[in-house]
Amino acid sequence: MLNPESNPYDLMGGETAVRKLVDRFYDLMDTMPETYVIRQMHAKDLSGAREKLFMFLSGWLGGPPLYIKKYGHPRLRARHLPFKIDEAERDQWMMCMNQAIDEQIEDEDLKQHFKQAFYKTADFMRNQGLPNPLQM
Ligand code: HEM
Repeated sequence: MLNPESNPYDLMGGETAVRKLVDRFYDLMDTMPETYVIRQMHAKDLSGAREKLFMFLSGWLGGPPLYIKKYGHPRLRARHLPFKIDEAERDQWMMCMNQAIDEQIEDEDLKQHFKQAFYKTADFMRNQGLPNPLQM
């Protein structure tokens, strides 16, 4: 079991490890035919996306809150509203992230913890095919 007081950022290896994870994530998105749909949503040059996801994850994982310091509250769901994100897009995003995690994180508990945390956030980003709360 992971110690609930330990910090995922430090456990995974700090800044260098977060950068490596993000770089591998976008390299996979850039090259896997299965994730072409979400690759096309992103700018041709992925360097901006790499830097922003790195800064965001730094704080999200318990390290320095670089994104918030520079850009303020992430409003992540609102920022993703211009893009059509359904289950298929969520699953493409997770395909890249799960593979990057499998390659870069050794500890099995930490691996599962990361995959679940990313899945929750990716699922929250869906903005298509959601039930209409007024009809539930
Ligand atoms: C669920 C599937 C997802 C899709 C299809 C998606 C897609 C995108 C796209 C197209 C952009 C704009 C990139 C650009 O400017 O070229 C973006 C930005 C971003 N995404 Fe996602 N994303 C997803 C999930 C996530 C998740 C789970 C996280 C965090 C854990 C995340 C964090 C970010 C951040 C931090 C940015 C930069 C926001 C900014 O402009 O300041 N995304 N995403």
